Amino acid sequence: MENEEINVRISAAQGDDSNFDTSLRPQALDEYIGQDQVKTSLRIFIDAAKQRGESLEHVLLSGPPGLGKTTLAHIIAREVGSSIRVTSGPALERVGDLAAILTNLSNGDILFIDEIHRLHKTIAEALYPAMEDYALDIVLGKGPSARTIRLDLPRFTLIGATTRMSLLASPLRDRFGSLYHLEFYTHDHIVEIIMRSAKILKCDIDQDAALRIAQRARFTPRIANRLLKRVRDYTQVKGSDTIMLSFAEQALDTLGIDTVGLDPVDRRILETIIGKFQGGPVGLNTIAASLSEEMETIEDVYEPFLLQLGFINRTARGRVATEHAYRHLGCTIPADLQGRLL
Ligand SMILES: Nc1ncnc2c1ncn2[C@@H]1O[C@H](COP(=O)(O)OP(=O)(O)OP(=O)(O)O)[C@@H](O)[C@H]1O
Ligand SMILES: [Mg+2]
Repeated sequence: MENEEINVRISAAQGDDSNFDTSLRPQALDEYIGQDQVKTSLRIFIDAAKQRGESLEHVLLSGPPGLGKTTLAHIIAREVGSSIRVTSGPALERVGDLAAILTNLSNGDILFIDEIHRLHKTIAEALYPAMEDYALDIVLGKGPSARTIRLDLPRFTLIGATTRMSLLASPLRDRFGSLYHLEFYTHDHIVEIIMRSAKILKCDIDQDAALRIAQRARFTPRIANRLLKRVRDYTQVKGSDTIMLSFAEQALDTLGIDTVGLDPVDRRILETIIGKFQGGPVGLNTIAASLSEEMETIEDVYEPFLLQLGFINRTARGRVATEHAYRHLGCTIPADLQGRLL
C-alpha cells in the first residue's frame, strides 16, 4: 500500500534536535537526491581514481547555502574510503595553522575547507604549491636571517566549498581538478527529500502536506528539512500524529513563509526596492544599509532565490524588481515596467 510507505508514524520518542541535521544527511552518493549531473560525473571521477589506485584530484563545490556541499564532501570521503579533516577559510588564521593540518594528513586523506573564498590571501598562496606539488614553503625567522624551508606533504585531496565562486582567486580555482556547481533543486526532488526525511524522523506525513512544504522550501534541502521539523512540532502540539495539509499550512503561516517560500526578510528586500527606490535600479549595498542587514548575507542567502524566482534582476546599475515581484506583493505595476524589463 502506497500510503503505508508514506505514512510512517510520528514516534513517541522524538529524535534529538541536535542530531537532526546529521541524521538526515545522506551517507552515500546513491542516497543523495537530485543534482543528477553532478552525481553522474562525480561517480566517474571517483571510480576512475579508485581503479587507478590513485588519490582523487582536488574538488571544488560551489552553490548557494544549504544545497548539500558539506554533505557531498563527506559522501566523497566515504565513497573513496578516506578519512576527512574539516576546517574552514576563516578558521585558518596563519600559514602555521594550515601547515599543522597538512603535515598531519596521510596519503589519500581528504582535507575539506568550507567557505574557501574566505581564506586569507597569504594562506591561499601557501596552498598553491601544497595543491600542485604536495609541498609547503614555510618562512622561518624575520629580516635578513629569514630562511625558507620546504616541507613535503602527503598526497592529500583538497575539497573546497564556496557559496561565492566569484570571490575565489583564479590561481586557486585553476588548481582544482574538478569543479561542481550545485543548482537549486527541482520541486520533485525537494518532495523526495521531505519524504525521505520524514521516514528517517519516523513521522507520518500526507503527500499533499509534503507538496505544500516543498512549495515553500526555496528549492533548498536544508530549508525543506527545517520546515518539516517546524511542521512536525506544530502537528505534535495539536495532538495529531500525522502531518496533514492543514497543519502544514497553519504552521507555515505562523512562520511568516508565504505561498512561494518568501520569508519576512525576502519580502522586506522587495518592499525596499519597490517602495523606497521605485523598483530600482538600486545597489546591493544601499539595500543592505536600508535594511540593516549584512550585504554578504543578502547576496549569499536571499538574492539567489529571488533571482531564481524571477522577482529581481541584476543590472549593471543595480538590482531591479520585476513585474512578478510587484504582482506577488500586490503593488501597482508602474506603467513603464513592462517595456523596461521584459
Ligand atoms: N541531495 C540531498 N539529498 C537529501 N538531503 C540533502 C541533500 N543535500 C542536502 N541535504 C540536506 O540538507 C542539509 C544541508 O546540506 P549541507 O549542510 O550539505 O549544505 P551546504 O551546501 O554545505 O550549506 P552551506 O553553504 O550553508 O554550508 C543536510 O543536512 C542534508 O540533510
Ligand atoms: Mg556546508
